Amino acid sequence: MEAYLQEWLGLLLRWAHFITGVAWIGASFYFNWLENHLERQQAEADIAGDLWAVHGGGFYYLQKLRAAPQQLPQHLHWFKWEAYFTWLSGFALLCVVYYWNAGLFMVDSRVADLSSLQAITIGLASLLLSWLFYDLLCRSAAGKRQALTALMIIAWFALLSWLLSSLLSGRAAYIHVGAAIGTIMVANVFFVIIPSQKELVDAVREQRVPDARKGENALLRSRHNNYFTLPVLFIMISNHYAGTFGHSLNWLVLLLLSLSGVGIRHWFNIRHLEGHSRLVLPFSLLLLLAVIIALRPQAPAKSQTVSASPATAEAMKVVQQHCTICHSAKPDHPGFAAAPLGIVLDDESALNVLARRVHHVTVVTQSMPLANATGMSDEERDLIDRWYAGRMLEQAKRSEQEP
Ligand code: HEC
Repeated sequence: MEAYLQEWLGLLLRWAHFITGVAWIGASFYFNWLENHLERQQAEADIAGDLWAVHGGGFYYLQKLRAAPQQLPQHLHWFKWEAYFTWLSGFALLCVVYYWNAGLFMVDSRVADLSSLQAITIGLASLLLSWLFYDLLCRSAAGKRQALTALMIIAWFALLSWLLSSLLSGRAAYIHVGAAIGTIMVANVFFVIIPSQKELVDAVREQRVPDARKGENALLRSRHNNYFTLPVLFIMISNHYAGTFGHSLNWLVLLLLSLSGVGIRHWFNIRHLEGHSRLVLPFSLLLLLAVIIALRPQAPAKSQTVSASPATAEAMKVVQQHCTICHSAKPDHPGFAAAPLGIVLDDESALNVLARRVHHVTVVTQSMPLANATGMSDEERDLIDRWYAGRMLEQAKRSEQEP
């Protein structure tokens, strides 16, 4: 029953997290787009720019003012709850999925022998320390120099990814890097951006000039948030791709994919500017391509022959011993009410259908059994590898014989 309720709790939180996240990032992309597409007005004294748009059966006309209005309008819309709820639902999800079953989802004894409590402490510390480092950096003298700040932020996340992936399971390491970036983003909104907007509104109300420094800081932080979006979105879907977080250099894969995301975001930001660098997009896509090529599957060794490869019945024995406690129509594992992701490995025909994925998660990424919960040995992984290679060679032979 607990596993069943936990699954629903996870589902509802993930749904809410997704909805609020779409609303937050969507609004942020929209305002960024507005800023880039405003038709700048030189002649008008009060209007900095305006634009026309058509959407959903109507025309919209928007203006951006040069300065604050003389009087506050009756209804002024703020955009902040999307951000706060994205973080709150995300943090709750982190607790339900990862901290509730930390032994299974965070600790991997082949990476480091930690207790659940140690793993959770490391996870929480990574969120807090990332914000403290980033915030101090932005406030320091170095924070005044854009390129240096960007380099330091990249260095911090390279270090964090490496540290976390040498302490926690690959998927937990990835999700904590993502949660750390998300925490910085929402703390930027809460501690810097919203206070600066409050200052603007207060200044209008009190008929005084707003503190310009607060506005500059807010602009810088919101620009940083803009660059964080693509990496954080990749990390949120990365858990579906064991080839990334399960790689032996998973921290480097994360870093390179994130840099490529930052580059693509940069291109969206500069492509309207005159004389922008034409290399940003090709370079970012090349980086992505390089990762895809570097992670390509290796062909099985030529020396392996079909006769030496184990029969499916032998592979099935290993699967029954290590997988079906979770991946069964009726799992015996107390943590699962149904087979995870609907992957059922109860009989040989299911194993045959899922052969490629089974090989991928047990041999290539070694991300299964989850946290090596059932203690699968290297010999057993090798058996699956030889069984799979035998299948491949057999298939290749068969297709050669076909006319
Ligand atoms: C302790 C429970 C548990 C055990 C034991 C376990 N798994 Fe999983 N498996 C999971 C969970 C949970 C997921 C879903 C992870 C997610 O949400 O992405 C999963 C996902 C998978 C996936 C899909 C993920 C992908 O990247 O394709 C495959 C394939 C898989 N398991 C195969 C296996 C095999 C083969 C074994 C045995 C060698 C095994 N699992 C043992 C819990 C388990």
